[in-house]
Amino acid sequence: MYHAVLVSDRRHITVGQRRLSYLESGAGRPLILVHGFPLSAEMWAPQLADPPAGWRIVAPDLRGFGPSPDPIAPRTMEDYSDDVMDLMRGLEIGQAVIGGLSMGGYVVFSLRRRAPQLFQGLVLADTRATADTVEGRAARTRMQALAEKEGAEGVLREMMPKMLSEQAQRTDESAVAAVRGLMRGAPVPAITAALGAMMARPDSTPLLPDVACPALVVVGSEDRLTPAADSDAMHRLLPNADLRVIAGAGHLSNIENPRAFNRALADFLAQKF
Ligand code: MLT
Repeated sequence: MYHAVLVSDRRHITVGQRRLSYLESGAGRPLILVHGFPLSAEMWAPQLADPPAGWRIVAPDLRGFGPSPDPIAPRTMEDYSDDVMDLMRGLEIGQAVIGGLSMGGYVVFSLRRRAPQLFQGLVLADTRATADTVEGRAARTRMQALAEKEGAEGVLREMMPKMLSEQAQRTDESAVAAVRGLMRGAPVPAITAALGAMMARPDSTPLLPDVACPALVVVGSEDRLTPAADSDAMHRLLPNADLRVIAGAGHLSNIENPRAFNRALADFLAQKF
């Protein structure tokens, strides 16, 4: 069951010239969770509602999404990983378990490339390490045009069938409503900027063998956007990783089956830290 997050729960912090927004819950060691596309920190509502014992979840809104103001597009993954680094600095978090879902995973790879010392652990949810294929880039360019023409509604129509499993699309009204609400909230400049950043991101596969810290790879078995095979591939290359497949869940496995997702997270944190 998806728990809505009140916008009034949002926290803000000014770091240098920038005002960043984020959601936070729990207390203890820091766990940073980076949202996917075209969503916001609110996608982590089911995790924020049930933080693992002894852990403090911090979920940033990447620039342009949620109430985080967007400077100027175009954007790169490094801009988004700056957001995470700035927020960690602003909150005086020196090291954390850092995770992301889908595009959030691409942001985490960018952060890992630039600042591996920030990682106590790594969580890769419904994501992939590889760069976009030529066809994938062409699809992103088409989606940018669709967003310009029809706004978030066009992107919603195109992506919604791939966000949740077929079963959930038919039967889980609260998850469907939550995902629709999250996607409708995305401003067009943020959508087109993120598509550009995803399209230009490098292959992060070479980073994987050097990730010595504990890692969790988690994926819905019915994920059609970043299929379980991508998670298998990452798991095989990571020297110190667990793999959890959430049976029946689609791409947004944390929303579709929060109980299983939260259990995977809590087990990993309890066993490795
Ligand atoms: C996401 O869920 O963040 C995106 O769909 C990822 C992608 O399009 O590669």
